[in-house]
Amino acid sequence: MGDLAGKKSLIMNLKDRYAVFGQPIAHSKSPVIHQIFARQTGQSLEYTAQEVPAELFSTAAKIFFSQGGKGLNCTVPLKELAWAFADHKTGRAQLSKAANTLSVQADGSILGDNTDGCGLVRDLIINQAVTLKGTRILILGAGGASRGILAPLLEQSPQSIVIANRTVYKAISLADEFQGKGSITGCGFNDLSHSQFDLILNATSASLSDRLPPLEAGLLAENGICYDLAYGDTPTPFVRWGWENHAFKSLDGLGMLVEQAAEAFFIWRGVRPETRPVIELLNLERRKNQD
Ligand code: ATR
Repeated sequence: MGDLAGKKSLIMNLKDRYAVFGQPIAHSKSPVIHQIFARQTGQSLEYTAQEVPAELFSTAAKIFFSQGGKGLNCTVPLKELAWAFADHKTGRAQLSKAANTLSVQADGSILGDNTDGCGLVRDLIINQAVTLKGTRILILGAGGASRGILAPLLEQSPQSIVIANRTVYKAISLADEFQGKGSITGCGFNDLSHSQFDLILNATSASLSDRLPPLEAGLLAENGICYDLAYGDTPTPFVRWGWENHAFKSLDGLGMLVEQAAEAFFIWRGVRPETRPVIELLNLERRKNQD
């Protein structure tokens, strides 16, 4: 019996360890998503969620990796710290100045990547059949979330991207950083009157406090799409704004969450899991909880 328990614990210890760090983290769906991916692809791994405040991030990450941890996801408010922690960065992490995925390399160094923008674009194009080429895109907010999605969106050759932000200079300076990669401008919310957009992305943190950026009616073109990078158990204020303004689709960031996780899983394990059944499952659970 003792021998069996010993063997079992040895097998447990052999499992590759991954985790998500953030604060708050209690409601994170990442452990469930990665466990489903692991089952689906026949991979043996452990993925846990750990509440880590910003001031303890560096220590917690060092401990995690020194104890053999293979990879970390980092969420609010740790993505910029994770970027600074990484010894090397991928091109997309370098551009976004934030990392949501850290991986141990063969030489023990830590590589920082950012899979958020790729997750958003995959959700829009593959899952939602949205065309980005030639479209007019409005991004609300000029913080870390906006920065992370700009390069992957610009790669899809939209006609134009406008960044609107409450603090106007931040939108202008973020747009300036990406000049030369496409048509991109920054402005305040008041400067948007008479403009129309095919896709409006909410990358402000307003949804987290159940608020909405100040948006005039008429901003959304006919058959336009609204997409909130945030997600919740109930529709966010921006998703509701999309419905009220006759959006063709008004979506939240659940699909992006699953897609960014799949990209991290691919980086770590070298296999790409199927995302659609996971998105469907999480949507179903959400609907059940609403009833
Ligand atoms: P994140 O990493 O989630 O992007 P952040 O870098 O703190 O977080 O950026 C938050 C963004 O949401 C900012 O663009 C912020 O606008 P300001 O730059 O003017 O602060 C925006 N934001 C937060 N609450 C908002 C609200 N109630 N209305 C409009 N914009 C809001």
